[in-house]
Amino acid sequence: LEEFVVTIETRLTKRLRIKHPIVLAPMTPASGGALASAVAAAGGLGLLGGGYVDRVWFEAESAKVTRPDIGAGFIAWTIPEDPGLLDYALERYPRAMMLSYADPATYAPKIKKAGVPMICQVHTLEQALHAVDIGADVIVAQGTEAGGHGLGVRSTMPLVPAVVDALAARAPEVPVLAAGGIADGRGLAAALMLGADGVLMGTRFYATQEALVPSAAKAAVVAATGDETVRTSIYDIANGRFWPEGYTGRVVRNDFVKKWLGHEDELKRVRAEELKKVQQAFGSGDFDVGNVTVGESIGLIHDVPKAGDVVERIVAEAEASFEKYARQRIAA
Ligand SMILES: Cc1cc2nc3c(=O)[nH]c(=O)nc-3n(C[C@H](O)[C@H](O)[C@H](O)COP(=O)(O)O)c2cc1C
Repeated sequence: LEEFVVTIETRLTKRLRIKHPIVLAPMTPASGGALASAVAAAGGLGLLGGGYVDRVWFEAESAKVTRPDIGAGFIAWTIPEDPGLLDYALERYPRAMMLSYADPATYAPKIKKAGVPMICQVHTLEQALHAVDIGADVIVAQGTEAGGHGLGVRSTMPLVPAVVDALAARAPEVPVLAAGGIADGRGLAAALMLGADGVLMGTRFYATQEALVPSAAKAAVVAATGDETVRTSIYDIANGRFWPEGYTGRVVRNDFVKKWLGHEDELKRVRAEELKKVQQAFGSGDFDVGNVTVGESIGLIHDVPKAGDVVERIVAEAEASFEKYARQRIAA
């Protein structure tokens, strides 16, 4: 009993050659070169946030990457704005390419040909089945609790095991990552119990020292509870970003959101003015107006540590919880 030690190894850690089953979400704009490298250094998989194919940003952040073993991710419906950036990323980051928010079929042949593992983020069972049919190597099943964009129609707790079961029949070799609402070791342990092979986290890493967001935004995360987020298109309207039908983003329900929720048509009319206010507020650290794009798990976040400490802490907590139950069982 004394020598009983739990270490978490999954199909994901073996397939992607990582130590811990923790993946950094390719967050726009938080997941820059320093954050992706820090997560990789701690034994997880760091994904550089290619977001809306902003080449200037991507090249600048690539210059800050300190390790060869990170991957990248894009908001797939924006790739046509600069298709060459996908080629650049595939060449530079062969560890993994994550696609989200559009049919990955368009880019699957290119990614497969490059020999890069393709991670597809999905929000429904139907999307998961489609993704494995067109060659996804890893599925991220994202529930509505998540920070950032999604369809917002399924919750992590019932979506993940449903995807796991369906893939066991259709594509048994494809690992599943749980995403949405996971921010500590309890979340990782729960995800593994649901049959997932690991977790992909955004919000928890947003509140780390390396994340590319102002410190006042991180402080807002620490201060808020999980009751204070909402799914909305308000900031997309202000930014003039035309997301595909059904997609909304989860953000902190601040003064700007309260002002415009339910008045989206009016916001469209005054969008240019409001965008100026949002951009100024983001720059000056006023997050009553600037967007804090995070999910329900903010209620579990009480500090702004280094990203590597987050990885180690979460793994240790999950291992301890498994060990606790195993010991109880052995003792019984
Ligand atoms: C600030 C922020 C930005 C995000 N940007 C992206 C993105 O550009 N591309 C993407 O695939 N997912 C993006 N996401 C969603 C994540 O991939 C992931 O689904 C989500 O963070 C998981 O839920 P969690 O926030 O509860 O950990 C973003 C999430 C956050 C919090």
